[in-house]
Amino acid sequence: MHQLDSFELNKIFGAILGTCVFAMGLGIVASAIFSQHPPAVPGYDLPAPEEGASAAAPAAAEVTPIAVRLQTADPARGQKAAAKCAACHNFVEGAGSKVGPDLYNIVDRAKGSVEGFGYSAAMKEHAAKGEKWGYEELDHFIANPRSYMKGTIMSFAGIAKPEERADVIAYLRSLSHAPAPLPNP
Ligand code: HEC
Repeated sequence: MHQLDSFELNKIFGAILGTCVFAMGLGIVASAIFSQHPPAVPGYDLPAPEEGASAAAPAAAEVTPIAVRLQTADPARGQKAAAKCAACHNFVEGAGSKVGPDLYNIVDRAKGSVEGFGYSAAMKEHAAKGEKWGYEELDHFIANPRSYMKGTIMSFAGIAKPEERADVIAYLRSLSHAPAPLPNP
């Protein structure tokens, strides 16, 4: 019958002891490697943001001015986007009003100036002040008609994308015998 002699026991204890020492050593090495930089958040050592990085980021609400956007706007793309307006507006000279007034020659046209069209009181108020549809006014109106002109009867949600508005305005500008000059960016 086989019996564990002291030599074999020694080997077993030796192996256990060796494993413990190895594990301890591993722990010491590991803590030496990983505890140099205490993490900002337990579990993740987040990279520190560079100085001024957040200050340089542009505000989300900031929109490039229409004068700058018009530099790269495309009337052909604008014509396609203006399909949204065509349910209510004509774009052809002399084609007359639909739900809304004809938009031929709209850039720099006096607000609410189509003879015989039943404008809202809000539009008449703007017209009475002698305002016209410059690039800025068109950009703001098309972005959100009701927020630009409270009480307008143009029931259109607006075009949220600044580049798409610029394309539409570039198209509207082209609808003229003498297109208005582009604004200085
Ligand atoms: C659901 C119909 C409808 C849609 C769609 C619509 N409009 Fe209008 N629009 C109107 C009406 C109605 C008015 C008159 C608003 C008032 O009197 O308050 C108007 C007025 C305007 C005016 C002022 C015209 C003037 O003689 O002073 C402009 C500019 C205009 N729309 C541009 C657009 C553009 C550009 C689009 C597409 C992006 C568009 N509209 C889409 C109905 C519409």
